[in-house]
Amino acid sequence: MRILNYGSLNIDETYAVPHFVQAGETLAPTAFARNTGGKGLNQSVALSRAGAKVYHAGCIGADGEFLTDFLTAAGVDCRFVRRVDTPTGRAIIQVVPAGQNCILLYGGANQAQREGDMRETLSHFDAGDVLLLQNEINGIDFLVREAHARGMRVALNPSPFDEGLLALPTEAIDYLILNEVEAAAMSGKEEPAAALRALRARYPHANVLLTLGSQGSLYSGREGDFAQQAYRVRAVDTTGAGDTFTGYFLASVSAGMPVPQAMELSARAAAVAVTRNGAAVAIPTPAEIAAFQF
Ligand code: RIB
Repeated sequence: MRILNYGSLNIDETYAVPHFVQAGETLAPTAFARNTGGKGLNQSVALSRAGAKVYHAGCIGADGEFLTDFLTAAGVDCRFVRRVDTPTGRAIIQVVPAGQNCILLYGGANQAQREGDMRETLSHFDAGDVLLLQNEINGIDFLVREAHARGMRVALNPSPFDEGLLALPTEAIDYLILNEVEAAAMSGKEEPAAALRALRARYPHANVLLTLGSQGSLYSGREGDFAQQAYRVRAVDTTGAGDTFTGYFLASVSAGMPVPQAMELSARAAAVAVTRNGAAVAIPTPAEIAAFQF
């Protein structure tokens, strides 16, 4: 079983700020860093760190070679990353001292996926392989339908949410991994447990994992219903915490780990990640998680 992650690759430009910039304000950041990012790239790194065999597919421009260098060094197979004549995706991220962020996202090359390329990439995968998707590239609808027709299992992280996701074929989704904001938008229910029930009803074959930040996570699926608390740590940067959780969880359950253990490991991984600056660079290895004093 292989995991194909068809997803974004971004250059993250992160500014540490005393508060999020206001309309009309000019604000001097206290620190700046340029790093690897994108929900797709981050999740590939987490999958690989968690032990999965992962192939990343997507598009970069001429300025994005360091992103595939980083993925390759992390053990991710990048043969399906294509070069296009468009600047690489870019995220301008403000991080405040408590660790929260806000993000300005330029899609760039992430929005340049072509149907022929997507079909060719999927032709290398078979029934039983997993396709993981977020919502930072174009072509999601095409990828879901083609992968489902090939018998692949589809894991969807509908992030960031947009209305187009509601038109995806519901029977084609095998895993839905999302936060409370996305769950409310996808289900029409604000309360997490009600959203979880509504999503299980709407996506008949999907196992649903709902992440709730400091409130932990909830799961409802074939194996039953489970809850996991979040680990308390001193957060410096929460960018990529959800990606860390998603990658660790999907790699773990795909390798046969029982869901409650996978949720606990993923919660630990995300907790370690938020104690570090950056997105992909903050994702810990299993050894680093084991060594962390919670
Ligand atoms: O989930 C975090 C990611 O969102 C960042 O790395 C940034 O690139 C944005 O896509």
